[in-house]
Amino acid sequence: MARRIAVFGAGYIGLVTGACLAELGHTVVVRDIAEDKVAALRAGRVPIYEPGLAELIAAHAERLTFTLDADEATAEAEVVYVCVDTPPTASGDADLSRVWAVVDSAKRAAHLKAFVVKSTVPVGTGARIRAVLDTAGLAQVGYGSNPEFTAEGRAVRDFMRPDRIVIGAFDEATAALVAEIHEGVDGPVITMDVPSAEMVKLTSNAFLATKISFANEIANICETTGADVTKVLGAVGADHRLGKHFLHAGIGWGGSCFPKDAVALKALASNGGYHPQILTDVIEVNNHQRRRAVTRLKDEIGPLTGKTVAVLGMTFKPGTDDMREAPSTVIVDRLLSEGASVVCWDPMARTPAHAPWTAIRRAESVEEALSGAHAAMVVTEWPQLEAVDWRLAAESMAAAVLFDGRNVLEPERMAECGYTYISVGRATVR
Ligand code: UGA
Repeated sequence: MARRIAVFGAGYIGLVTGACLAELGHTVVVRDIAEDKVAALRAGRVPIYEPGLAELIAAHAERLTFTLDADEATAEAEVVYVCVDTPPTASGDADLSRVWAVVDSAKRAAHLKAFVVKSTVPVGTGARIRAVLDTAGLAQVGYGSNPEFTAEGRAVRDFMRPDRIVIGAFDEATAALVAEIHEGVDGPVITMDVPSAEMVKLTSNAFLATKISFANEIANICETTGADVTKVLGAVGADHRLGKHFLHAGIGWGGSCFPKDAVALKALASNGGYHPQILTDVIEVNNHQRRRAVTRLKDEIGPLTGKTVAVLGMTFKPGTDDMREAPSTVIVDRLLSEGASVVCWDPMARTPAHAPWTAIRRAESVEEALSGAHAAMVVTEWPQLEAVDWRLAAESMAAAVLFDGRNVLEPERMAECGYTYISVGRATVR
């Protein structure tokens, strides 16, 4: 049954949720506080890049609208979906002020049946919102926790064909309503209590981050033994109990989710009086892995003062323009503080208007970035790197030294092309 749904937040999650709910047949109003964003969306411009998203928004313009006005969004809404951001505060706890603002708006919604939270929130938030709704005389409005597991760059696909739809609710009717909203989505529904649903989201991201940090630690050990981490983890991941995904060693994880959620889960544990040892180490290994990238380059070429380093890739992963918590920021910062000049190439990133990015030169192509450089670092595994004529590029460099922070290039081939090729968890070839 088609529902009238208000989605709060027009970020990555809100836009994908709104567009996919419209695709499922619902009438959706997406509300955001950013005037420029809403104006752009009303004019048919999608402010973020996400494959398939602009097409969905254009296709469903009749039942997918955008507003700045919270009351306009909730006026007819049967369901409010909360997709606002929950950034970490200085203590690591999530800042829930935007979520509470949506709760206030929902109190004025005349037709509301369910208040559903997709934003990642600390365990216990649902119970607190439930209590506030009850006190406001809204006991009849159901509360649902519906965490999202979509990854950037494949978010529309992940929404429409997920591994699972997790629904936490205090009552069966609300769980059934949220499940019904997903009719047409190709994935199993798993219902549970609200705290468990909240915990699933943080645990999933922490586990994925743990797999990567573990892969990075094994890579660092491989470097001391002569083993090749891609062969080791390829065979390890072939064991179905372990799985091959998220076992790629590199310069560490970034993005808007893993860093924030790992810190939030750690804060959650600490607030409950428990010291999370594994999680603490997973975060520390990740921080170390970024710093280590520059150390390994320095070990090869010596002090960086007066040298130009080409950084290939700026976004936290390919297929997105997102620069949030990108490992490149830490790497560029360290290169500059070591006295290097930095030239960056990225096909999609917008250069952030703050340090260290204000001190770099931006190249239009990989070839332009490499020309005259004393070393290069692959920071994001953009597919465009496969098409580069690496032999020609080596000849254009002041010194053909390449650190591959994503293990995307073939060591033998790079040596043949004239490089000193350093990668993660594999022997350096020259
Ligand atoms: C992640 C999760 O994958 C989603 O399931 C989740 O819904 C989302 O966070 C979220 O909480 O919203 P995302 O941040 O878009 O999605 O990116 P991922 O594709 O998971 O990559 C995260 C980071 O891990 C990237 O920096 C990537 O380069 C790195 N990574 C990933 C590795 O270093 N090695 C790997 O094997 C895999």
